[in-house]
Amino acid sequence: MNVVSEAPTRRRVLIAGAGLGLSVTACARDVDPSEDARGPGFHGLRQAGVTTPRQATVLLLAYDLDPGLRGAAGARALKAVLGSWTDALAETLESDGSRAARLTATVGIGPALPAALGLRAPAALRELPVFTGDRLDPERCGGDVLVQLCADTADATEAVAETLTRLAGETLVPRGRQDGFLPPSPDGDSTPRDLLGFEDGAANPTPEECERWVWSGNATYLVVRRIHLRLEDFARLAVRRQEEIIGRSRSTGGPSAGGPEDADAAPPRSHLRAVDPRLDSGARMLRRGYSYADGPADQGQLFLAFMRDPALFVRVQRRMAAQDELSGFAEARGSAVAYVLPGARPGRPLGADLLT
Ligand code: HEM
Repeated sequence: MNVVSEAPTRRRVLIAGAGLGLSVTACARDVDPSEDARGPGFHGLRQAGVTTPRQATVLLLAYDLDPGLRGAAGARALKAVLGSWTDALAETLESDGSRAARLTATVGIGPALPAALGLRAPAALRELPVFTGDRLDPERCGGDVLVQLCADTADATEAVAETLTRLAGETLVPRGRQDGFLPPSPDGDSTPRDLLGFEDGAANPTPEECERWVWSGNATYLVVRRIHLRLEDFARLAVRRQEEIIGRSRSTGGPSAGGPEDADAAPPRSHLRAVDPRLDSGARMLRRGYSYADGPADQGQLFLAFMRDPALFVRVQRRMAAQDELSGFAEARGSAVAYVLPGARPGRPLGADLLT
């Protein structure tokens, strides 16, 4: 299996890192200078929270630009907010406590924002279409500014969220928030499982593939899908049937039929067949998903994936809707896309490229 962002699991990385004074994954090593032995920080050519190994919790925030702010006045107001966010994030995220909690903040802008500010839109930033099977709640969709906060404790993300919302003032109005978690894995050391009980997140791109398919210079795009899962219906199926639907073994995360490590071995209507990168000429996305539980009646997958062009997501999602049996147990209720800004450095705040 092609394993990167999760592959050296945290414990293994820490053990290996103890000798080397390092605690970064292969994927993060060369591209994210803000990540060092103390944990991820803030400053860097690229934002942390993309190739950073998944932390235990996520808090996703969506804001809208005040509708009264448009054009040059809106751009000035946004620049001021992003400047104050940059200062606050630098101070908080570079601290030893935040690094120990592996706190990251990843900021992006939604598709409607550039036109509202009279700015040229990043090339691949477009609204996602509505897909067959979606049951979207408008309140859980979109956003002019999206922030992905991740850390090993939810307290750490909550504290930063409060600061950001305070600094957003009247320029950015809170639109929505969603938290997520990684369900504890039985042995504590393997790839985390999703709420269906399968290891999820192992088959991610290598560092070279990240360069080719995830990054667009120092920026990338984030696709968010809040996918309600019919957990009880799925759990009632025999394990063999569940494995047929996913296309993986539930116990090992390997091929479901015990065959070679290859999507060809997966059943034709399985998830693994529908999402096979070879159907997209090898194009990859970096999945960094979490589970969510908003009460017993609404639980599922907070699908988060980074890629250099969200058109890849559109193609894969259309194939899922058309042929993937997993779609019968999944229903997207929220959806968003964002252009993830290049990283911030001293003297170069978030949004500098966009708002100059
Ligand atoms: C409905 C909730 C979903 C669940 C429970 C789920 C679960 C899984 C699992 C268990 C794997 C195999 C383990 C791994 O390597 O990570 C996987 C792989 C994958 N999934 Fe999903 N997934 C879901 C939705 C999606 C969506 C919406 C997409 C994109 C449209 C997607 C794209 C992929 C891709 C690209 C792979 C890796 C395939 C490969 O590289 O061979 N998944 N998913």
